[in-house]
Amino acid sequence: MKQKTLFYCTECGNETPKWEGRCRACGAWNSIVEQPKTASGSTASASVSCVSRAPVRLSELDRGEEIRFSTGMSELDRVLGGGAVRGSLVLFGGAPGIGKSTMLLQICQELCGTDTVLYVTGEESERQIRMRADRLDITADNLYILAETSADDILASAETLSPGIIIVDSIQTMYSEDTASAAGSVAQVKACTMRFMRYSKSSGCTVFLIGHVNKEGVIAGPKVLEHMVDCVLYFEGERTTNYRILRAAKNRFGSTNEIGVFEMLDDGLHGISNPSALLLAERPVNAPGTCVTCVMEGSRPILAEIQGLAAAASGNPRRTVNGFDYTRANMMIAILDKRTAYKVSSNDIFINVIGGLTIEDPGADLAMILCVASGMNGKPIPSDLLAIGEVGLTGEIRSASHLEQRLREAEKLGFKRCVVPKANMKKLRMTGEIELIPASNLFEALRSVFS
Ligand code: TYD
Ligand code: MG
Repeated sequence: MKQKTLFYCTECGNETPKWEGRCRACGAWNSIVEQPKTASGSTASASVSCVSRAPVRLSELDRGEEIRFSTGMSELDRVLGGGAVRGSLVLFGGAPGIGKSTMLLQICQELCGTDTVLYVTGEESERQIRMRADRLDITADNLYILAETSADDILASAETLSPGIIIVDSIQTMYSEDTASAAGSVAQVKACTMRFMRYSKSSGCTVFLIGHVNKEGVIAGPKVLEHMVDCVLYFEGERTTNYRILRAAKNRFGSTNEIGVFEMLDDGLHGISNPSALLLAERPVNAPGTCVTCVMEGSRPILAEIQGLAAAASGNPRRTVNGFDYTRANMMIAILDKRTAYKVSSNDIFINVIGGLTIEDPGADLAMILCVASGMNGKPIPSDLLAIGEVGLTGEIRSASHLEQRLREAEKLGFKRCVVPKANMKKLRMTGEIELIPASNLFEALRSVFS
């Protein structure tokens, strides 16, 4: 077979058919190099296995149920889709200092119960890891620490140790001989991920890769890693609070809707199984401009407090939105302005979801509008009332999914009344204590809350 070569950029990994002085994708000068097409690193789409295979009939394929195991942290298991899958490659992303190393070191204690775990660190010394492990009270005997940054050497160690789980902290500090560029460059990160992926698929070992997220919220430049791994989890939270939220951006073995909520304490991360109580803990009573709703995060209903403030604008009216999609929030403000007597278009408007939660569920629309209206008219929304419903452009309130589940959660936390979409009423079989206030449009909802 004729040996073909291809050219690729050592900075961003972009492939071109011929040599160029400047990469068209990332604009770097003199970064294009030639490489045989069969070499790893440059061809990320190369097959996972190195062995050549013949096509097999679908019906003859082994079903081979995926084997799951618990990480010992139920919140993490939930986001992974019910535990981690053997032989999978999980990317664990997040801003520096958010608690990635803490979480993965913490789960070692449980994982070591059944497996040998190799924790590779390219960031900290063995001593630092030891100190952290003491703080987290990790006593596992078959946890091995390796301070190393060469992917080739790490995999050589793995061959002899044959661990069931490898944790790589972090992928940005790793380098592989396959690629000439510096550690942390996209080409290098891609090449190393490729090495770990091959190893995990051939040995059945589960690999957790830690990846730092840069300011733009992407792991190492382009989203190239996301396509290579089985699961991508992001660890989020504000540095000023102790609460952290884990969500899946991609999951080959489960849904991406589930979130995990954690609290960072002196002895590590603790899962929070009832986030609603925590999110509502500091809610002001009898204050205008706040409204509670219940959103579905995957299969779990979570109560969230939304706050709204409308202030006289000194220049062009500004909108500041935290925790909601900006466009959707603007749409809700426009609906309030056009469809009701609340004239908010010339005000500065601030909308905030408490607790660092990011809401995508349209069931929160009604609460968002009500809290802005309450901020405008100065009338507090009763503290035992919540509102659920999607709001359409004509001001109609549309039905919400999983309403019974949401209402039960609200009831659990002591809510007595709930504004619900009238459209939901027909099918609703709610026998609980909570009083339902059906509304078919914004006008009805505002009247029932404020009169
Ligand atoms: P770390 O896991 O090192 O973050 P990452 O690996 O994502 O960069 O977390 C560092 C922060 O967590 C640091 O500010 C100290 C804090 N921390 C605790 O509050 N409690 C703990 O038990 C540990 C180990 C860390
Ligand atoms: Mg770290």
